[in-house]
Order: sequence, then structure tokens, then C-alpha cells
Amino acid sequence: MNKLQGPLWITVVLLLTSSVALLVRAGDLGADDDDDPGPSGPDGLRAGATLYQDLPAPVIPREIRAMPRPKRSYPEQPPVIPHSIRDYQIDINFNTCMTCHSRTQSPRTGSIAASVTHYYNRAGQPLGAVSPRRYFCLQCHVSQHEIDRAVESTFRDMEQLIIEEASQRRGRN
Ligand code: HEC
Ligand code: HEC
Repeated sequence: MNKLQGPLWITVVLLLTSSVALLVRAGDLGADDDDDPGPSGPDGLRAGATLYQDLPAPVIPREIRAMPRPKRSYPEQPPVIPHSIRDYQIDINFNTCMTCHSRTQSPRTGSIAASVTHYYNRAGQPLGAVSPRRYFCLQCHVSQHEIDRAVESTFRDMEQLIIEEASQRRGRN
């Protein structure tokens, strides 16, 4: 065992120095490539950029202040928000949405009360106040903005699918 210690030390020292040398070399390479911006990200809602670019953030589109009550595209869709929500606070102490949408406040404010599903916890137990998992309304409900579609949508309402299927069936009989 003792005899091996000498060569072992030399190997360790050699390995260490060579890895340090490699690291220094990698640093050099990085410095040489400063002019190369690297691959650019794909264009999405905002233009794609390289890691070195700092493109300006897109302008926040204008919020639609009021619109007719939205049509839901399928059962269980969280309805979109038909009014402005600017400066509405939702934090640990206060939930502005619930000042109008709670069961007790909705008649006074003319809003639709958040449905009973918002009061069940995940064990299926009904609670007196809105459930923590439905507390952050904007997780599911989105406000509407004056903005062009990012991509064209071919979505068809399921009612339309049912009507189409029924008329096809009638055609076959
Ligand atoms: C000042 C009272 C008020 C506040 C605060 C408020 N709302 Fe509303 N909300 C309304 C009223 C009134 C309507 C009904 C509008 C209508 O009938 O056209 C409505 C409609 C909605 C709807 C559509 C419901 C449906 O079935 O079509 C959603 C979703 C909604 N609000 C979510 C929110 C969220 C989320 C917040 C908080 C970020 C919020 N609201 C804050 C008054 C309020
Ligand atoms: C985890 C998703 C989720 C969160 C969070 C959530 N909702 Fe909803 N909400 C839904 C869904 C899904 C529906 C439609 C089906 C239903 O009633 O459960 C709905 C329906 C509603 C409706 C229409 C009720 C009706 O009877 O037509 C209102 C109003 C509403 N939500 C308000 C709120 C408010 C206010 C908050 C925040 C305190 C909130 N929601 C948080 C998913 C969510």
C-alpha cells in the first residue's frame, strides 16, 4: 500500500494541473467568442433574441374596460373577466374580487357570485370562505385586452360539433 502512495500523489497532482489548464483554456475560448451572439431564440409573442441582447419589453396592451357577459366555449370553462381589473389587489390580507363576487356581496354589486365549486377544498369538503385553491382568481380567469391573436385558432365550440354530428347522422338515415 505504502509503495503506491508516491505514484498516486503524482497522478493526483497531474490530474489537477491538467484540469486547471483545461479550465483556463475554456475561459480563453469564451473570451475569443465575445462577438458571436450565439443562437437566437424563436420569435414568439415577443421577438426572439440571443442571450446577449436586451430587447425592450412589448407595450402592455390596453385592457377592455367593459364588455357583454362572455360566452363560454365549453362546460366548465372559467369565464373570462368582462371588466377592467386594474389595481385590484389580491394578497394574503385582501381579495378585491371577493368584495363583489362573494356570496353575500354579489346581490348588492350586481355581479355573479363565484360558484359553489370555489368553496370546496381538495378533500371535497365545503368551506365557509373561498377555498385557498381558488383564492388567486387570475390563475384561471383572464382579463381581456385589445390585442391581435398571436396565432389563428381553429377551435370549434362543442355545441357546434354536436350539431354537425347530428346533421351527419340525419343525412345517413
Ligand atoms: C366592483 C365590483 C367587482 C369587482 C371588484 C370585480 N368584479 Fe368581476 N364582475 C362584476 C360584475 C358587476 C360582473 C357582471 C358583469 C356583467 O354582467 O356584464 C362581473 C363579472 C365577472 C366575471 C364573469 C362571470 C360570468 O359568469 O360571466 C368574472 C369571471 C369576473 N367578474 C371575475 C372577477 C375577478 C377575477 C375579479 C378580481 C380580479 C373581479 N371580477 C372583480 C363586478 C366586480
Ligand atoms: C382553479 C381555477 C379557478 C380559480 C382559481 C377561480 N375560479 Fe372562478 N371559475 C372556475 C371555473 C372552472 C368556473 C366555471 C365552472 C364553475 O362554476 O366551477 C368558474 C366560475 C366563476 C364564476 C361564474 C360563476 C357562475 O355561477 O356562473 C365567477 C363569478 C368566478 N368564477 C369568480 C372567481 C373569483 C372571484 C375567483 C377568485 C376568488 C375565482 N373565480 C377563482 C375556475 C376558477
